[in-house]
Amino acid sequence: MIECDGKIVSSVQQFVIPVRDEQCKAVHIGAIANVSTLPDYRHRGYAAKLLAASATDMKAAGCAWSFLFTGIMPFYEKFGWRPIHRMFLAVNVPSGFSADGNSDVILQDPPDLERLRMLDEGSFVAPLSQIRGELDWKYKIPQRIQSKTVFMGEDSFAIARESDGSVYLEEWGMPEPSVIKFQHLVEAVANWAASQGTHRLVVSAPILAEARQGLETLFAQVDEVDVVDAMVRPLSSRWPMTRIISLFSLPAARFLRLDSF
Ligand SMILES: CC(C)(COP(=O)(O)OP(=O)(O)OC[C@H]1O[C@@H](n2cnc3c(N)ncnc32)[C@H](O)[C@@H]1OP(=O)(O)O)[C@@H](O)C(=O)NCCC(=O)NCCS
Repeated sequence: MIECDGKIVSSVQQFVIPVRDEQCKAVHIGAIANVSTLPDYRHRGYAAKLLAASATDMKAAGCAWSFLFTGIMPFYEKFGWRPIHRMFLAVNVPSGFSADGNSDVILQDPPDLERLRMLDEGSFVAPLSQIRGELDWKYKIPQRIQSKTVFMGEDSFAIARESDGSVYLEEWGMPEPSVIKFQHLVEAVANWAASQGTHRLVVSAPILAEARQGLETLFAQVDEVDVVDAMVRPLSSRWPMTRIISLFSLPAARFLRLDSF
């Protein structure tokens, strides 16, 4: 941060998170968040200075590449971050939508975190999966999960969130991939969405073949939503931009979200 006139006038938050590379091995990446400068102190190069310092610091910490979400890409492009396109699937949930009731998937409140952990760890050893440690499960996840809705089946889970008239299916997993199980998760989330009076369901999670097939079976029309809100920047010569981008386009890659549960 930068102090001026006895107060903090500009700050950048950085943190290191472990994710998996193409071989599903751990690699550390540097996330950037909360970049801000007080209005009276803008256009003095403060944010630029802090972003440059962050990049140097993250390199020194052994980070392979950096990642951020933003609504002002041109600003970060000047400092070497480049946009990443991510494809989401969206459907309209019909008013009368109702699952057949044969599924074991239920909304869990409060969620059974032990079981969620077991299912999550059994489901994701794929590129870009965030590697969650003891501290994540002890502190971060219990706090974050409070703003989400958790659905669980016997051996599957889905995490959803309602925002701006849409329900986002943000995470889902199952140790044994199955189109039917995915359909049951979607049915439960879509039922819940409809009960909230929300009819737009966006799957902002990995779009694997099973996911697409499951959605196409359940809903007449599946739209593709191209979102370009994430940016990446190389921090190591072993991780040129082409390698980072190809990681995101691997079929089995997870979507990396800084705000995921
Ligand atoms: C974006 C922000 C952090 C820049 O802080 P700053 O200390 O003024 O940044 P710098 O002085 O290093 O760089 C300023 C340059 O950033 C660019 N910039 C600032 N806001 C921008 C925006 N919304 N879109 C694109 N470029 C922008 C301009 O090119 C500006 O150049 P100029 O000074 O020649 O006009 C500051 O405007 C801010 O706090 N905005 C509100 C919070 C925000 O949007 N944060 C980013 C969230 S991802």
